[in-house]
Amino acid sequence: SASARIQSETIKRLLRERNATLVAHYYTDDAIQQLAEESGGCVADSLEMARFGARHSATTLVVAGVRFMGETAKILSPEKTVLMPTLEATCSLDDGCPADEFAAFCEAHPDRTVVVYANTSAAVKARADWVVTSSIAVEVIEHLQARGEKILWAPDKHLGRYIRERTGADMLLWDGACIVHEEFKAEGVLDLKKVYPDAALLVHPESPAAVIELADVVGSTSQMIKAARELDQQRLIVATDRGIFYKMQQAVPDKTLLEAPTAGNGATCKSCAHCPWMAMNDLNRLERALHEGSGEIHIEAALRQRALKPLERMLAFGR
Ligand code: 13P
Ligand code: SF4
Repeated sequence: SASARIQSETIKRLLRERNATLVAHYYTDDAIQQLAEESGGCVADSLEMARFGARHSATTLVVAGVRFMGETAKILSPEKTVLMPTLEATCSLDDGCPADEFAAFCEAHPDRTVVVYANTSAAVKARADWVVTSSIAVEVIEHLQARGEKILWAPDKHLGRYIRERTGADMLLWDGACIVHEEFKAEGVLDLKKVYPDAALLVHPESPAAVIELADVVGSTSQMIKAARELDQQRLIVATDRGIFYKMQQAVPDKTLLEAPTAGNGATCKSCAHCPWMAMNDLNRLERALHEGSGEIHIEAALRQRALKPLERMLAFGR
């Protein structure tokens, strides 16, 4: 709408005035992603967001995503101001892995190398040997497995099980899940495949095993977009947050993109495949954060130092 366009222009001006850059995840609203594109920021997966923020010369990073993404940005760039449209945007994986319980789990298995998903608090990262995102998780586990290491993995059990099956590594899994991806249903996908037998299925590895088994491609959000480009199929069924359709459709304007079903009968629940916390990032909150400097991430120095090590390992590994 016209008012949204005016607001977007205001936000771009505020970004310039603050020497700030906007780092957005694919699951945020189209309007936020568009702003990130138009203002020279980025729209990316979790790993690329971390890289982009750490390397950028801006003095302020505005992270549109969920809390752990802002924390990661601050851990990697303590000298920068990191703002978020809201600090309330959590993640079911992060919430499902409290630092004290996680520390007890690690202490009970001291012989295992601790690998945590990026979707965790700074305190959980501080307890880890490695942090990984979905785009490099398999490679990192293969690397550790080749060194004969046994793994303690947290928090996403679906991603953990997928990696374990792919690599055959000895992995002990924490019992966490993403409430968005966990809703995808294999029966629904099979029903849709009956209607469109020519369609390829792209799946984010936070999805249940039965859905992953049907996939043509399993990968992070960026890897799914890359695959959409490279696959021969003209019709793609996509099992991840629907926010990804904005950039995926840009990448493949001539292909037909279908949402993977979140119900067994092939119907898609209209609000299911969208992360409620990603959805909290709206233009009003973004404007307020820039205007007032609100939603700032602070991380205590000692905690930051400990969380930095496994994060730096991740960035160095992926280079
Ligand atoms: P990636 O963008 O790294 O694939 O992560 C998905 C996710 O759930 C972020 O919340
Ligand atoms: Fe967490 Fe899932 Fe939301 Fe990503 S989509 S932030 S994993 S709840």
